[in-house]
Amino acid sequence: MRHLISLKEQSRADILNLISLAQKLKTKRNAGELTNYLPNKTLVMLFQKSSTRTRLSFEAGMTELGGHSIFLDAKNTQFSLADFGDEIQAVMRFGQALMFRAMKVADVELAASFNRVPVIDACSEKYHPAQALSDLLTMTEVAGGVDKIKKIAWLGMENNVSNTLMLACAKLGIEVAIAAAEVDANSVDAELNIMAEATGKITRTTDPREAVAGADFVHTDTWMNMEFFDGGAVKPDFKEEYERRLAMFKPYQLNAELINSMAPNARIMHCMPCHVGYEISRDAIDHPNSVIFDQAENRMHMQKAILLWLLEQEHLV
Ligand code: CP
Repeated sequence: MRHLISLKEQSRADILNLISLAQKLKTKRNAGELTNYLPNKTLVMLFQKSSTRTRLSFEAGMTELGGHSIFLDAKNTQFSLADFGDEIQAVMRFGQALMFRAMKVADVELAASFNRVPVIDACSEKYHPAQALSDLLTMTEVAGGVDKIKKIAWLGMENNVSNTLMLACAKLGIEVAIAAAEVDANSVDAELNIMAEATGKITRTTDPREAVAGADFVHTDTWMNMEFFDGGAVKPDFKEEYERRLAMFKPYQLNAELINSMAPNARIMHCMPCHVGYEISRDAIDHPNSVIFDQAENRMHMQKAILLWLLEQEHLV
């Protein structure tokens, strides 16, 4: 049974297949053709954390595939009252695939270990594979082919999103330059790092200008915790950590000056939500090189490909 958890288990051919499948699905949709390849199939979506794009893209994607999705907010279920393993085994009896935004990847892996239905890690503390795949779709479209993507840069903090993006790019032979002030300790996967670094495609620097120079795409993600704020003001308990992060990470901000001076042709990417003025500036989001909103839309095209691939129905497209 196929699962999508960290991208460690997917080959270069799998990743290329998924990109190609998503492109075909997007082309059909844009031509007004139906893509209802999964009638009477149900995707169960379990969220232990909030989401805008992941929920919308899987839910809309499943609608377009002719199936149905069920949204479960973990807070409004019996998960807090019962053993997780028991509860998730019951949940998986109601659909043909499980999409799980989890606090801990160990729970995603436990769900997958039952091999009842394909399981998707929809952003745990270590991985965000569906984001990495859809970002590759966006970059492939913009560059005019996977083989035209030579170098990407990642700025700010190494985290769950950078882990899976780095690994996917490395598997495709794309150079990844990381300029990070810090690594999110919860996101560290030594095995993934070894796998990515073994390709010789990963470089790390503390100089964001060096990372961005020559890049085709520049990515970033949040490094400021939104729990620090209350109505726009920093909560007193978090003031020290807020100041520490601001001083440490601000030099890594993705902004127009950095792009214009170091890589004027590089496209600007952010998986969203954007925290304007922190990891990204308003002038970067609105920059002519920004593809951030196409990047958001592509989540749906890739989710459809992922669902068909997991259910081994890709031959229908
Ligand atoms: N990028 C992403 O996963 O967005 P959401 O958190 O809104 O789902």
